[in-house]
Amino acid sequence: METEIWQVTEGEAGRRAIARAAEILRRGGLVAFPTETVYGLGGNGLDPQAAARIYAAKGRPSDSPLILHIASREELAPLVQEIPPAAQRLMEAYWPGPLTLIFRKSKVVPYETTGGLDTVAVRFPSHPAAQAMIRAAGLPVAAPSANLSGRPSPTTAQHVAEDMNGRIEMILDGGPVEIGLESTIIDVTGEIPLILRPGAISLEQLRRTAGAGDWDPAILGKPDENLRPKAPGMKYRHYAPQAELTIVTGLPEAVAAKIGALAAEKQREGFRVGILCPEESRERYDAALVKTVGTRAHEETIAHNLYRCLREFDQEKAEFVYSEAFADGPLGEAIMNRLVKAAGYRILPAGGGDEKIP
Ligand code: TXA
Ligand code: MG
Repeated sequence: METEIWQVTEGEAGRRAIARAAEILRRGGLVAFPTETVYGLGGNGLDPQAAARIYAAKGRPSDSPLILHIASREELAPLVQEIPPAAQRLMEAYWPGPLTLIFRKSKVVPYETTGGLDTVAVRFPSHPAAQAMIRAAGLPVAAPSANLSGRPSPTTAQHVAEDMNGRIEMILDGGPVEIGLESTIIDVTGEIPLILRPGAISLEQLRRTAGAGDWDPAILGKPDENLRPKAPGMKYRHYAPQAELTIVTGLPEAVAAKIGALAAEKQREGFRVGILCPEESRERYDAALVKTVGTRAHEETIAHNLYRCLREFDQEKAEFVYSEAFADGPLGEAIMNRLVKAAGYRILPAGGGDEKIP
């Protein structure tokens, strides 16, 4: 199939693009669209066949549940059995925004959308194009990230096109996304709210808003058979770069020395080597493929560029990539969660005294 790519600009052209997207969604087709976190691959969230098409387009197992995207708080009630008080407070504080909440699902939500679960994930994105599209379609829009299974989430329409061209009806191009990492997922069905996936909304924000909250135990360590992740998406192999990615931790000088030595060794052996570092330490490296992911002074720049840098290393056919760790501020948890998975938990202490693994 031919994938239509439309710009979502202000004014008449943008309105036509939104109307076209809504028409495709209502007919059971798939539309990739920008959100403030990453691009989503949208389909009618109440249509089992649309869910099946989403899984097929992504090449994703069909027991991986999808997030339903809505465009007003009122659209939540019909989708869920109850709205717990903690959820109410979280919605008031952070919706619309990068927060997904897990509720007990109502009958209108098909099991095909929830991967067979009795719960449903719901998010109210803040991106104006996402809101306009959902409102025009008049449906909750089921949407995973718009990447092929096993690739980093797309943060530009160009990334979506790389993965989805010919597989979906339409891509709405709203330019680069703002945050660059997927939403925080919080399960509000239990005693206290649990974070199933870290994102831009932090544990501190959860606790301040809901009075209590914690990490789901399954996201803290390496996945193993005993700790079944509550977000079933997490049990699948996540994005793994074509290169062998290693995170080096420790004091800045020790980290730079270690990465420099490892990179030089692999280069001598004839491999293509990449280095991922913040602006603060760019000067310390002189290997062929050094990428500056952002600045430690503003972690949101690191979140914003991380997936793009990882895609670029793949494109440039890096065989070994060494990365510094990023775990200082509140966003650090979310950044490191994605980076550690991409590294397949390969973390190397550099020595120098600070061996804390982030
Ligand atoms: O920022 C985001 O959340 C992006 C944008 C497009 O909204 N979407 C996204 O979707 O990241 P996806 O499918 O790539 O990740 C959804 C995650 C998966 O790990 C899935 O297992 C989890 O949400 N999830 C969905 N429904 C769930 C449920 N009922 N219970 C537990 N986890 C659920
Ligand atoms: Mg995803």
